[in-house]
Amino acid sequence: MSAVAPLVPRRVRGTPERAVAQRRLALLGTGTVGAAFVERYQRLQARGLDLPRAAWLANSRSVQACADGLAPALQRANAAPRREVLLQGWAEAEALHAGDIVVDATASELVADWHAEWLARGVSVVTANKLGHGSLLARSQAIVDAQCETGARYGDSATVGAGLPLLGSLRALVAGGDRIHAVEGVLSGSLAWLFDRYDGSRPFSDFVREAAAAGYTEPDPRIDLSGEDVRRKLLILARAAGLPLEASQVRVESLLPVELAGASADAADALLALLDGPLAARLREAETDGARLRFVGRFDAEGASVGLRALPAAHPLCSGRGTDNRVAVTSDRYPLQPLVIQGPGAGAEVTAAALLDDVLRIGAA
Ligand SMILES: NC(=O)c1ccc[n+]([C@@H]2O[C@H](COP(=O)([O-])OP(=O)(O)OC[C@H]3O[C@@H](n4cnc5c(N)ncnc54)[C@H](OP(=O)(O)O)[C@@H]3O)[C@@H](O)[C@H]2O)c1
Repeated sequence: MSAVAPLVPRRVRGTPERAVAQRRLALLGTGTVGAAFVERYQRLQARGLDLPRAAWLANSRSVQACADGLAPALQRANAAPRREVLLQGWAEAEALHAGDIVVDATASELVADWHAEWLARGVSVVTANKLGHGSLLARSQAIVDAQCETGARYGDSATVGAGLPLLGSLRALVAGGDRIHAVEGVLSGSLAWLFDRYDGSRPFSDFVREAAAAGYTEPDPRIDLSGEDVRRKLLILARAAGLPLEASQVRVESLLPVELAGASADAADALLALLDGPLAARLREAETDGARLRFVGRFDAEGASVGLRALPAAHPLCSGRGTDNRVAVTSDRYPLQPLVIQGPGAGAEVTAAALLDDVLRIGAA
């Protein structure tokens, strides 16, 4: 059979090139995800994809114009000296106009507070920062309201499952009139890896150090072990399902003993061994019952919770390997067998890919 041109949906191919090229792009955050975003942007550009023109990028130290390209601007931004006070120069940078796109690759409250402001100005926001929909309910509501007001778009598929089709599927079910009864999931790639690997052969703290060395955890693994990251993702999922949940309504069972939680960053590593006894006991108990340990976030009509659960080996959340995320949705449409979405949901590359998917989707709209 002779080679044929790949099928491209008419809407995308038919979008006038001007429309995408006229949009400008600003990137906030030049760390692990920001750098992966720049690399992928350049790769897609080299393949001839129609991308919004990069105008400027910024971190907490400097703002750089991208006239000579994203990569040199990234280098200059990361070479800027560290300061006592975080700069917010990006707020005064070349003004973004309706139709432009800002990408948030920070974990900053300050930047998240700007999401609704940008949307209100007609600027679309694409984010890996979970603090937009994953923190204060008022901030999340302001984001939705600003979108409705101006029609600007909010791309947050990178915030849960690093672009797995989770948020889009939930929103599509709700838009189609389905009622969500429960959502439960293994939402942290690092905790998925830890409980997939932890077999009691070595202390749990050894596995934590291995996960940190492999880059699966945050630089301070206590951020993962506290359950806070999972709480944020659960809030994002709940709000996408139409549930106006407050952060305080999620019961979080942290894995951290008080002494480890309160220790300084320098002292924390030496105290990781405090995890070993309690987790060895939880594992023995689970094994006696033929169960597996999984760190699960769940919401249903009864409430919302985050914590370590012992699940039967056949439970949908026990499949998957490594850092895979898994989410099971029970609804009117899926009352008995849940809809299960599973796949690699961690890492800078998949996160950057999810950000660019959203940029392209918005650019082509
Ligand atoms: N790493 C991953 O695999 C991964 C996966 C999924 C989602 N995420 C999410 O993606 C986001 C970025 O993660 P990361 O790993 O790239 O973090 P990172 O390496 O620590 O980079 C964070 C970047 O944000 C910048 N920043 C902080 N506050 C700022 C402010 N007020 N104004 C402008 N820039 C500011 C930092 O500036 P400086 O350079 O000046 O410090 C830095 O460039 C986070 O929300 C994270 O949860 C990360």
